[in-house]
Amino acid sequence: MLNVALPKGRLGDKVYAMFEKAGFECPAIREPGRKLIFENEEKGVRYFWVKPSDVAIYVERGAADIGVAGKDILLEYRPDVYELLDLELGKCRMAVAGPRDFHDDGARTLRVATKFVNIASEYYAGLGREIDIIQLNGSIEIAPILGLSDVIVDIVETGSTLKENDLAVLETIVPISARLIANKSAFQFKGTQIRQIQSSLKAQVEKRD
Ligand code: PRP
Repeated sequence: MLNVALPKGRLGDKVYAMFEKAGFECPAIREPGRKLIFENEEKGVRYFWVKPSDVAIYVERGAADIGVAGKDILLEYRPDVYELLDLELGKCRMAVAGPRDFHDDGARTLRVATKFVNIASEYYAGLGREIDIIQLNGSIEIAPILGLSDVIVDIVETGSTLKENDLAVLETIVPISARLIANKSAFQFKGTQIRQIQSSLKAQVEKRD
């Protein structure tokens, strides 16, 4: 049985459709309900819906053999997994944002609010800029508006959240998209099936371009 961790939500639905196309369907998954685990014994596959930011934990610890996680999570937590393929879904970017007219004159420590503490720290370390990190769990955009921080490091997809809160992208740090990841030992023991899925998904990505 190949255990697959799918990110719950819109991205997960698209990802499952790709697995289905690859010949690993599990029709029950499309039925409405609150069930989280689905199995197709004949195809030798078991899917489970997990919180998108938890996929990498399931895969790293071997509870899932493969899964789909955002590059943001892989960069932030650096799980010990193989990154097999860029699915080119869920595209967005990690960016520094702040008030439109903000200019960092370097005079004092920059206050940065973010969920992505490691990404932000590494980015500013690379610039040699001293920062004070303020770790938040969501609605990061509020921080500079209320004066809690000077800027934020966050995910920007359409840009509407920033726009509607009078903020703007100041610098792009890195592009983000969904990645197929594999548990390292599963990749040895279930390699044939994993590689088969990987190459079918790859062909689907290439066909899209
Ligand atoms: C993410 C991100 C931004 C928003 C960006 O938040 O943190 O707030 O989406 O998308 P946009 O550019 O299309 O507006 P999410 O909805 O995941 O909620 P959060 O506030 O809990 O981070």
